[in-house]
Amino acid sequence: MKTLEKKISEKTARVGVVGLGYVGLPLAVEFAAKGFKTVGIEVDSRKVSAINKGTNYIADVDDKAFASVTKRKLLTAAATYDDVPDLDVLFICVPTPFTANKEPDISYIVASAREIAPRLRKGHLVILKSTTFPNTTEGYVQPILESSGLKVGKDFHLAFSPERIDPGNRKWTTANTPTVVGGVTPECTRLACLATAQVTPTIVPVSGPKVAELEKLLENIFRSVNIALVNELAQLCDRMGGVNVWEVVEAASTKPFGYMPFYPGPGIGGHCILIDPYYLAWLAREHDFQTNFITLAAETNENMPFYVKNMVVREISMMPVKFPDAKILILGIAFKRDVDDIRHSPALKVMELLHHDGAKHIQYNDPFVPSVVVDGVSFASVPLHRKLLREADCVLITTDHSSYDYDFIVSNARCVIDTRNATRNVRAGRSKIVLLGDGK
Ligand SMILES: NC(=O)c1ccc[n+]([C@@H]2O[C@H](COP(=O)([O-])OP(=O)(O)OC[C@H]3O[C@@H](n4cnc5c(N)ncnc54)[C@H](O)[C@@H]3O)[C@@H](O)[C@H]2O)c1
Repeated sequence: MKTLEKKISEKTARVGVVGLGYVGLPLAVEFAAKGFKTVGIEVDSRKVSAINKGTNYIADVDDKAFASVTKRKLLTAAATYDDVPDLDVLFICVPTPFTANKEPDISYIVASAREIAPRLRKGHLVILKSTTFPNTTEGYVQPILESSGLKVGKDFHLAFSPERIDPGNRKWTTANTPTVVGGVTPECTRLACLATAQVTPTIVPVSGPKVAELEKLLENIFRSVNIALVNELAQLCDRMGGVNVWEVVEAASTKPFGYMPFYPGPGIGGHCILIDPYYLAWLAREHDFQTNFITLAAETNENMPFYVKNMVVREISMMPVKFPDAKILILGIAFKRDVDDIRHSPALKVMELLHHDGAKHIQYNDPFVPSVVVDGVSFASVPLHRKLLREADCVLITTDHSSYDYDFIVSNARCVIDTRNATRNVRAGRSKIVLLGDGK
């Protein structure tokens, strides 16, 4: 029988990707494009049938590459785990959200490990990619897989290798971003590095899964803390007046070493940066340790939608219209520029807060998000035309999509609240713009 190493090198290893979302589908397409027979295992039957029909549903996945691998049946999808015994390498890319009380919810990881365990066989390599707290791989996944009677490092191999995909980022993709790999044993690391190297040019092996798990949290917490810092500065600039935080950040960015720019905004969203600090804070509490610094950053960022909502309320209070009757138009509700992902988007939080405060005429436009439900109310993206802008009492820019014509928006709107500095190049009508952190 061929060793796993030989199968990977010869590209005869069969690859399984569990969870075909923003992380799993691009990974599955990449392996298939390299010639590996790849099976996606996905509980959402709509995604399974989309893949098997050749319909791409993730914007970052190249349509041509997707069509090529699905047409040639190099990539297929299944709603069950029945294929697991025939696969050689399994990547787990399932969600890791938090609960209503912001505690880690690793139930999707546990559920997928429980499905794999009874189908595990000698020679399998399992690589967990979902972002999670240190010791998930060894403390949760390993015992479930070993309940099969097989031993890690001897019968099967297990590693953690975090995902670094940045949806919408054209410069840094999985094809040129280094990947960290930490296996439970040195042999687990070696094999996981070999498998990962098939789709990634640079591999960074580390001493074990816990290092890989914590380094991923560090990457995202680093962003959370730095965004919180500029969000705090934005509020300070608004309070003291006379200094524009955006100009300050740009000026600081000219330092060629020891500084990297982060920008204020209406809060943070997405599947990672908002959630990950809580994964670590939760784990730290078990060790009688409070991650005060990290928690303060999360708190500062979470306060931003409330701050922005208050900006809207204040502007409307100066208009000849009662708040509930004011027409509020929100531009951009995806959690960041040029993506369709609305998970934990701060724009939705702002909408919810405005709605709670009694605003009766909220509308939104987002070229990437056709409809959304906020606070139990369904909204559909309205076409962004002149009349809509003219009729709005307040236009709120929450996400700075690059397709927006900001000159057109400002020239037709009566009042624009800009939380992203999206209007920085607009010259005419600046007196109508209320900019977060501009110190006016
Ligand atoms: N989206 C990103 O930009 C990004 C970047 C880096 C890391 N991550 C991490 O990667 C992981 C996955 O994130 P995502 O954005 O791809 O999530 P996602 O929700 O887009 O995709 C996860 C998929 O897993 C499926 N799934 C859930 N339970 C399953 C099960 N038991 N068996 C099979 N399929 C199952 C879901 O139906 C979904 O399609 C998370 O831990 C996330 O934090 C995400």
